[in-house]
Amino acid sequence: MRELSEVETVGVVGAGTMGNGIAQVAAVNGYDVVMRDVEESFVDRGMEAIEDSLSRFVRKDELSQQEADAAVDRVYGTTDLDALSTADLVVEAVIEEMDVKRDVFADLDRVCEEGVVLATNTSTLSITTIAAATDRPELVVGLHFMNPVPVMKGVELVVGEKTDEAVVDTAHEFAESLGKETWEADDKPGFVTNRILMPWINEGVRAYDEGVAAKSDIDRGMTLGTNVPMGPLELADHIGLDVVLDASETLHEELGDRYKPAYLVKRKVDAGDLGKKSGKGFYEYD
Ligand code: CAA
Repeated sequence: MRELSEVETVGVVGAGTMGNGIAQVAAVNGYDVVMRDVEESFVDRGMEAIEDSLSRFVRKDELSQQEADAAVDRVYGTTDLDALSTADLVVEAVIEEMDVKRDVFADLDRVCEEGVVLATNTSTLSITTIAAATDRPELVVGLHFMNPVPVMKGVELVVGEKTDEAVVDTAHEFAESLGKETWEADDKPGFVTNRILMPWINEGVRAYDEGVAAKSDIDRGMTLGTNVPMGPLELADHIGLDVVLDASETLHEELGDRYKPAYLVKRKVDAGDLGKKSGKGFYEYD
């Protein structure tokens, strides 16, 4: 197995919100990064998001312009799958569909060198099932980053049925090398975070739908009353209602009725109101 001390280049599969965030924190922390997506426009959008996010840190004096520029220079964006062959550790962050993830892992297993650890950023799917698409299930681990990745401190480390203990250690060390802190979860649906967060969000939506309070009062009630940074409706918009619905449906399927997604989440996703990213969810955004 490739140890963290041997990791110079990090591969990131997917240049979306999570992928570009992971690529950014890896680059800021001195790794060379290969960020791969299937279309040039996705890669370009990912690179723009990295530049935008870095400029926020520069504005807040948390990074110098030179450090930000150097981080951008360390990210090589590409649509070429074979470019991932230079990676010493890979994090996958493509859409939350098991078939797609399994195809990606089968490709990574073929392209990446022997001993390279393959991590998945999945938020609810089984690490064990994803790992079974490879001939190296012992080198597959879950590294579930939180959104927005450059800002959130925590990474959930998920241990699959066959994940080797040394791989778990390397994954912890890797997350720490990105300035993150980890907690460990077993490979059970939703792990720790989404198993608890999704019913919380869905209950907030139901409370609104059932007229318990105005949406802003539900959010204020939870932020002022329990000291969380965002209330459930605001957080749902931040995460993306499509992501909330997908995660909730997976949990519902695996764990039964107590995980049933709120009707209003589904109706809004059907209407294309996905939250911040579409300009409208429970609230409206510029
Ligand atoms: N790069 C990228 N985004 C940044 C950023 C940076 N450098 N700095 C701030 N942000 C984002 C915020 O998301 C928000 O976006 P918009 O401007 O587009 O509205 C905005 O910048 C707010 O900026 P602030 O400087 O005012 O940030 P803040 O100090 O208010 O903190 C926050 C923002 C950290 C997101 C805080 O509100 C928070 O902690 N919210 C809860 C987030 C959370 O719970 N995330 C986990 C979601 S669950 C998950 O990710 C798992 C899953 O599988 C679904």
